[in-house]
Amino acid sequence: MDHFLYRDGALYAEDVPISEIAAAVGTPFYVYSTATLLRHFQLFDDALEGTDHLVCYAMKAASNQAILKTLAQAGAGMDVVSGGEYLRAKAAGVPGDKIVFSGVGKTADEIRTALSGGIRQFNVESEPEMEVINAIALELGLVAPITVRVNPDVDAKTHAKIATGKSENKFGIPIARASEVYAHAASLPGLEVIGIDVHIGSQLTELEPFELAYTKVAELTEKLRSEGHNIRRLDLGGGLGIPYTRSNDAPPLPVEYGALIKKTLGHLDCEIEIEPGRLIAGNAGLMVSKVIYVKSGEGRDFLILDGAMNDLIRPAMYEAHHDIVAVQEPAPGVEQQPYDIVGPVCETGDTFAKQRNMPPLEPGDLVAFRSAGAYGAVMASEYNTRPLIPEVLVHGDQFAVIRERPSFDEIINRDTIPTWL
Ligand code: LLP
Repeated sequence: MDHFLYRDGALYAEDVPISEIAAAVGTPFYVYSTATLLRHFQLFDDALEGTDHLVCYAMKAASNQAILKTLAQAGAGMDVVSGGEYLRAKAAGVPGDKIVFSGVGKTADEIRTALSGGIRQFNVESEPEMEVINAIALELGLVAPITVRVNPDVDAKTHAKIATGKSENKFGIPIARASEVYAHAASLPGLEVIGIDVHIGSQLTELEPFELAYTKVAELTEKLRSEGHNIRRLDLGGGLGIPYTRSNDAPPLPVEYGALIKKTLGHLDCEIEIEPGRLIAGNAGLMVSKVIYVKSGEGRDFLILDGAMNDLIRPAMYEAHHDIVAVQEPAPGVEQQPYDIVGPVCETGDTFAKQRNMPPLEPGDLVAFRSAGAYGAVMASEYNTRPLIPEVLVHGDQFAVIRERPSFDEIINRDTIPTWL
């Protein structure tokens, strides 16, 4: 469920008409609903009720500080994957002891930043990384809390580019080597081994892969404990999928996911962390764009929008489907017609949808891409010298621009010209 609904023939974000935001900020733009963000966070928090837990929002999904602050005020921790994300979370007011640091290639500088600024734990992905964290901790006179990310070799049954839990993927250490790696970690005085981390992929639409992975984590917990490690925290990653269309089978709900966690791991008396990103932000955001032209091609009509692949890359990158709806609600019974929906960028890949049925649209009409709140704005670029599009946050009947559209001068003046030119 989200808070983007038609009311009196027009699409609203909570109590604000989308057309009002468009008039104020221009198109294209991203808009997020506070109520939807909070509802989705709460679903996870409630799903783990009765267990000691922390929901660490994977901020890579949508990292505007206004979003982070909204979630942090509700009690969320953060999962960060770079020094930049760490600093951004801190800037939004998230305390270090609620930030976990994941990622396969943390640099020494990033580790130093997080360790000196305060960190809940590093999710370590390799032995060389472990050595670097140890050295920096000793240099700073600190002890770094760590989990080791294990690769359980399970098939997440998702898009190949976002599956991470198979042995051929770059993530984690092979679960079969865990005893050896944990013994190594325990021998390093700058580290305190507190738990195990696992994350098998994103946009999972079934519980079975989670069940396989978490069962392996449960076995590993007992094994490592028997080898003398005080395993007391399990970070289970993110990955629960969202419905991208209204028609297909919906993925499992957070409450079912929570029940699975309790069933597979509840007996271990560990603190549980999860790192959901997409499910919290995905359906809490739209990208709104305007029709520039309607062009009749060979046997097809093109809807040319002012939004493009640089603003929302998911269709071009993962063949992802986003529902696209007219902001003006189509009159009942209006006949739909197929359009190829494209952006203005100079490549054929800049296609959002082919032969998508839409009500008849004209230049100037607004359309909204649903489920664009996660991996939308954060993956945007300035390709074709198109400015990053603004982000807007709605709260009831209020809205605020939470990131401005940069001017062309700001973009152009970022280049510097060498003296020999
Ligand atoms: N934890 C770790 C260690 C991750 O790598 C990720 C996502 C998450 C948590 C959050 O997963 P989520 O709950 O959002 O599924 N750009 C792609 C998705 C990439 C996901 C990368 N890792 C897309 O647009 O589909």
